[in-house]
Amino acid sequence: MEQNTLLQIAKDFGSPVYVYDAEKITSQYKRLTSAFSKVKKLKINYAVKALSNLSVLKLFNTLGSGLDTVSIQEVKLGLAAGFEPKQIIFTPNGVSLKEIEDVAKLGVQINIDNLSILEQFGTKYPKIPVCVRINPHVMAGGNTNISVGHIDSKFGISIHQIPHILRIVENTKMNINGIHMHTGSDILDIDVFLYASEILFDTAKSFKNLEFIDFGSGFKVPYKAGDIETNIEELGEKLTKRFNDFCKEYGKQLTLAFEPGKFLVSEAGVFLAKVNVVKQTTSTVFAQIDSGFNHLIRPMLYGSQHEIINISNPNGRERFYSVVGYICETDTFANNRRINEISEDDILCFKNAGAYCFTMASNYNSRYRPAEVLWYKDKAHLIRKRETFEDILKNQVEIQF
Ligand SMILES: Cc1ncc(COP(=O)(O)O)c(C=O)c1O
Repeated sequence: MEQNTLLQIAKDFGSPVYVYDAEKITSQYKRLTSAFSKVKKLKINYAVKALSNLSVLKLFNTLGSGLDTVSIQEVKLGLAAGFEPKQIIFTPNGVSLKEIEDVAKLGVQINIDNLSILEQFGTKYPKIPVCVRINPHVMAGGNTNISVGHIDSKFGISIHQIPHILRIVENTKMNINGIHMHTGSDILDIDVFLYASEILFDTAKSFKNLEFIDFGSGFKVPYKAGDIETNIEELGEKLTKRFNDFCKEYGKQLTLAFEPGKFLVSEAGVFLAKVNVVKQTTSTVFAQIDSGFNHLIRPMLYGSQHEIINISNPNGRERFYSVVGYICETDTFANNRRINEISEDDILCFKNAGAYCFTMASNYNSRYRPAEVLWYKDKAHLIRKRETFEDILKNQVEIQF
């Protein structure tokens, strides 16, 4: 998307606003499928949590993607977007048996990540095939909050507990049709991923009725020019070979599944916000925007460094700024960042704002969540209206004093 297009979108739809490029989403999807084109049965289940707008889900449906979901609400969004239940996998963590039962009744593939629920579900529904999420005890991921496959993590069933899983399977006569891992997001090293995959292959041998192996996700995307990113093509080549060999060994053509979020939508999104105040203090120059961690929390939550471009003055001389929000807490998007000279009312463009940005937005400080726009076939489509004061009030129940 051109900078002038973005400026026009900010003008037409107001700020702050999220904008997603359908073409970039499509090209990332195709890049992933072509990297694994030599796998006979490949399934990409887009991780809805990254960006759950209905129109974006519909776009993924047209691409042939499935969905990875973590709540019954995400499942229902997927169904509302036109996905068949069998195209959806439910990979929750720490949810109730009731929620899992409700999702199973919708016909969605269940993925269970603890022994307690596995035993209860298997006892009640031995005929419903289940995938199990394994914790391979591999330390991978860009930040402790997004590293989820290590020994202290709450996710998955430990590889050391495989005998216990097998005991449950034997006692309940349930059917395990898939095994799964997700070691974390922003994995820098392919070898770590391949190492964890070996653990999964090893585990797979213990289950005789598998239909698929789900390798989760965690692919790292670049945040600026020259940034490290997961080399998908190299991973495709290496994992394909290993997977195809494993299928021969296993005696059956299995499906290779992935569930990427960030890889598919991160770079497709930008966040546009207007500068309310340029404030010089004794130590720095703050650019204060009409947003805060209520709209984009990743920099404060896990230190994400979103590139920021002043699209109102792209050729201005560069100066140093701390870009902060309007929230009544410290909400620093960028510290001492070199940006083209900023004036009040300029529009700043935050890059890599497709994944885990809008979906983490809140009404903190009683602010409205922003609008969302999809740039599709050279046209800007509003895909979510900005909230209004009615939205702030709508679920509140007033009592009389
Ligand atoms: C189980 C599971 N699968 C897939 C994803 C998507 O990961 P990413 O956005 O890094 O591709 C996540 C992210 O939190 C996850 O927890």
